[in-house]
Amino acid sequence: MQPLNFSAVLVLFLCCLFQLSSAWTMNNFLMTGPKAYLTYASSVRVGAQSGIQECKRQFALEKWNCPENTLSLSPHNGMRSATRETSFVHAISAAGVMYTLTKNCTAGDFDNCGCDDSKIGQPGGVGWIWGGCSDNVAFGEKISKQFVDALEDGHDSRAAVNLHNNKAGRLAIKATMRKACKCHGVSGSCTIQTCWMQMADFREVGNYLKMKYKHAKELEMDKKAARAGNSADNRDAVTHTFLSVATRELVYLESSPNYCVKNQTLGLHGTEGRECFKEDKNMSEWEKNSCRRLCNECGLKVVKKRTEVFTSCNCKFHWCCTVKCEKCKRVVAKYFCAHKSGRKKNQKGRNSAHQQ
Ligand SMILES: *[C@@H]1O[C@H](CO)[C@@H](O)[C@H](O)[C@H]1NC(C)=O
Ligand SMILES: *[C@@H]1O[C@H](CO)[C@@H](O)[C@H](O)[C@H]1NC(C)=O
Ligand SMILES: *[C@@H]1O[C@H](CO)[C@@H](O)[C@H](O)[C@H]1NC(C)=O
Repeated sequence: MQPLNFSAVLVLFLCCLFQLSSAWTMNNFLMTGPKAYLTYASSVRVGAQSGIQECKRQFALEKWNCPENTLSLSPHNGMRSATRETSFVHAISAAGVMYTLTKNCTAGDFDNCGCDDSKIGQPGGVGWIWGGCSDNVAFGEKISKQFVDALEDGHDSRAAVNLHNNKAGRLAIKATMRKACKCHGVSGSCTIQTCWMQMADFREVGNYLKMKYKHAKELEMDKKAARAGNSADNRDAVTHTFLSVATRELVYLESSPNYCVKNQTLGLHGTEGRECFKEDKNMSEWEKNSCRRLCNECGLKVVKKRTEVFTSCNCKFHWCCTVKCEKCKRVVAKYFCAHKSGRKKNQKGRNSAHQQ
């Protein structure tokens, strides 16, 4: 069996494409030829990584914190589920890939693509006209779809849900786009502005999708038909169910497992040993509640651990021209979730933890 003999379609198994972690095995990118693959592959990789980075940021203080080992999007992964959390992973990855491809296109990194100038010439508004270089999201959307959606080769409800969430992720890029403008006129008088459409910061796309995650909808499908696989019945059921869901909403099939507890089968670490934050002047409500959310809600207690940190201090300027500093030791309190029994059986290196 020689896979490379299939000349029309090259199935590329890109094991460990994501350098972030060996657990990342987003394989099976299906492309119509090695040339197309090579042109965009690095961009797709960077994009998927930025998606996962944003996932980790958005979920840093949640029970489920976007752990590497649950991120495999491969349909051939036995543990694959379609929970609220995987819906976010699919959406943010698809969005990351589209975002990077679009940025690359606008920056002129690809020969066959450039700014979207379709708006130029259309009427603008009071004091402004369309001009400049709009982000070519149509290009990013098309290419990212080819790469990311190709991972779903099944026709079951799971594949349909994943494809839906990929699409919702790509829509998030468009939904958060905004008009950017530049002033013209005598010495910056701004008598006329030229404007173009620009993607928001990726962080904003992350915030948008986090909100969609909170309002994600569980699909009421015939679970028995869903498990049966590729039957025509199932496909009808899938089509029918999706008619009731807006494309921009995230959807899932199964309720989430208990993220409080360690579950080796599912590759979950549980929240024991996680760091949380006690009230501080400048913390958001979300941070202030982190100990309650990660420890108390999971039946764990909060332990305080004193940690020494070294910072530069007493810096002096020396003629000429150096700055010399001393290293100062400061003791800061950190907080972690721990078992109520107080035993250190399952604790990893938290020996100096003091009970609060
Ligand atoms: C696309 O952009 C990313 C980061 O913005 C960069 O690392 C990558 O090299 C670019 N790809 C190409 C083909 O220039
Ligand atoms: C781990 O998850 C599986 C699947 O959801 C479940 O059947 C099992 O009871 C869980 N194990 C523990 C220790 O919670
Ligand atoms: C706290 O927040 C205020 C206003 O949001 C800001 O001016 C100040 O610099 C912040 N202080 C610290 C220590 O971050």
